Formats: sequence, structure tokens, C-alpha cells
Amino acid sequence: MAGSTYGTIFKITTWGESHGKALGVVIDGCPAGLSLSEADIQIYLNRRKPGQSNISTPRKEDDAVEILSGVFKGVTTGTPISLIVHNTSQRSGDYGDIATYYRPGHADYTFDEKYGFRDYRGGGRSSGRETIGRVAAGAIAAKLLLQMGITVTAYTRSIGPIEADMNAFDKAAILSTPTAMPDKNASALAEDYLKQTMQELDSCGGVMECIVEGMPAGIGDPVFEKLDANLSKSIMSIGAVKAVEIGDGIMVSKSKGSENNDAFCMNNNTVSKKTNHAGGILGGMSDGSPILVRAHVKPTPSIFRSQETVNKNGEEISIQIKGRHDPIIVPRAVVVMESMVAITILDALLLNMSARTDRILEFYDRV
Ligand SMILES: Cc1cc2nc3c(=O)[nH]c(=O)nc-3n(C[C@H](O)[C@H](O)[C@H](O)COP(=O)(O)O)c2cc1C
Repeated sequence: MAGSTYGTIFKITTWGESHGKALGVVIDGCPAGLSLSEADIQIYLNRRKPGQSNISTPRKEDDAVEILSGVFKGVTTGTPISLIVHNTSQRSGDYGDIATYYRPGHADYTFDEKYGFRDYRGGGRSSGRETIGRVAAGAIAAKLLLQMGITVTAYTRSIGPIEADMNAFDKAAILSTPTAMPDKNASALAEDYLKQTMQELDSCGGVMECIVEGMPAGIGDPVFEKLDANLSKSIMSIGAVKAVEIGDGIMVSKSKGSENNDAFCMNNNTVSKKTNHAGGILGGMSDGSPILVRAHVKPTPSIFRSQETVNKNGEEISIQIKGRHDPIIVPRAVVVMESMVAITILDALLLNMSARTDRILEFYDRV
């Protein structure tokens, strides 16, 4: 299977299946000299761990990470970093039936058509558990970014019709509410909405948002490697994400040029912008304002209601899905988005180091 590798310099390859022995990631291109422990990575993995609230799948996994290579005496060595997380709570029996039919909203049919064969246990490679490798790598990228004064913060913007009030933005609530919303009142309303949705044997979608602060201007490349293009690809590659917006996003099509343009001004001798409709990116390069990205996530495809589908013999059948599933994907996917954004931003920063002759001469002490 191709397509499990992402990034140019900070390059990650995720591996493993939902009900295999383990999952993980190999990161090639992480600079040497970064202090790194399993605890640094575990903090991130704990945010996506299943079974932590009544709005998350009841599958219980410790998701304990082990560093296999690339770190010596608590510091990265510049060699490939290999990270592993063992699966401990597989219940493959729940999935025996789906070997013979195609679950609506899942990748069962497309996998069979492409490969003629699939690991049907828990969705195999297209399971949400694949994102473990992304989050483990994202924790490392975020740690290096933090040393550069760059922070990446993702949160739940909305769940079904319930939207967080951005005037009541409370960063601590992102980690303390089961919805990952930055607004405790909206979170409580969203929990009620989710309880009702679960009683109806249904699921719902939502929106995640991510802000990058402290980003220098001029990062990203102007044509095929535009920063907004790469952010969109990295976020759209997360299962269930169906649309990505930068800045004002789809609203720009309803706006006038005089409203959408961000006026430039001087702020402490630096070129700045009075507004940020552009979401911190102009012409594929960061403009120094916070980068703002939004991702729209579809409702969890596995619902417990009876659904119509077909089996491998081409017969139309009615099915009732078993297994353990999130009624909403968003709260656990927030840290996945944060990780993919951190990886993409770090990769762009590393790539940018070869952009200017004067900086190369400076780096090699030849000025
Ligand atoms: C963190 C995360 C957790 C997920 N959990 C579930 C789940 O419990 N049940 C489910 O049916 N889909 C879940 N999904 C979504 C499916 O993996 C995804 O919708 C499916 O593979 C089809 O791919 P597509 O939606 O990108 O077309 C999850 C996705 C992510 C990112």
C-alpha cells in the first residue's frame, strides 16, 4: 500500500492496523539535539485515547508509547525515530460479519475494489487508530516548534448545531471538557445533544479549528507547495474530514474585495495587518498573522440503526452494526488535526532554510 508517508524533510511514515499487534510511526528528518521522552509523546496520545468519557467509544486502550530508536540519553540523535503503541483491547469477533458486506460510509467497498482483499477487523488501516502514529509524530513536531516560539492549538468549534462562543474562549476548557470545546457552557449543551443522538442510535458531525501563533512571515512556497495547499492536504488526509477552510474560508465567496482585503499597517516597526480574513497566509506563504484553519468532519459512519447495503454476492441486505464506536469523531480528532498542522508547519520551516543565498552563507559562516 503506497501513501503512508507524509512530509519532505520532517518525514513521517505511519504503520499498523486497528486490530493488528501494534501501530506506530517512523519519523525521519527530525533534527538532532531535541530533548525527548516518552512522556512528551504520551501527553498528546492521551488526548486521543478512546474510552475516556461517555461520548467516546467504550474501547479501552492505554495507548502507551515506546521509543524504539532515534533517542539516546533523552536527546534525539538525528537518526530515524521509531515509535510503537501496542493494541491490547482488540475484539475482532465484533467485525466477523463485515467481511461479507460493505458498511455505508466506510472504506470496505473501495478497499475490496482496489486490493481484492481487506483486513476487515475494525476497519484495518482506515480505522481512526491509524492516527496514533500521526499524533505521536505531531507531539515531537510541536515540541520543536515551541522552542521556536510557535504554538499550535486545536479545539472543537461546533458539534451538530451547538457552536462554541469564541468571546468566551477558555483555553483550559479544551483539555478539561469531554468535547474539547473552549467554552464550558457550549460543551454541556453539546453533551446533551450527543446523548439524545445516541438514544436515537445515530451519530453527528462537527467542526474543528486550529490556530498557529508565533509564525514568522514568508514560510511556505508559492506554487505547488503552498502552505495552505499542504495544510489542506494534511488535514483532509484525516479520516472523516470532508472540507478544510483557511481564514474566512467559504465565506470569501460572499464577500466584497473591500471587505475581504486585510489592510497593512506598521506595528512596532513590523509590517502587520489590521484584520486577518486571509487566515495568516498570502500567496501560499505565511504573512506573520496567526494561521487559522478549520476542518469539517462528517458524522461517525458506524451507527447502530438498521441500514441498507449490499453483500459480496451482490445481494441487497439490511444490517445492524456491532462494535464500539464514537457517536462523534471531532473531540478525539482535535489532537490529530493539531498534530498534522504541527508536522506541516515544521516541515515548511525546515524547507525554508534553503530559500535565500544570504541565509545559507550566514549558516555556513561564509559572510
Ligand atoms: C480519531 C478518529 C476516530 C474515528 N472513530 C471512528 C469510529 O469509532 N467509528 C467509525 O465508524 N468511524 C470512525 N472514524 C472515521 C472512519 O475512520 C472514516 O470515516 C472511514 O474510514 C471512511 O473514511 P472517510 O470518511 O475519510 O471517507 C474515526 C476517524 C478518526 C480520525
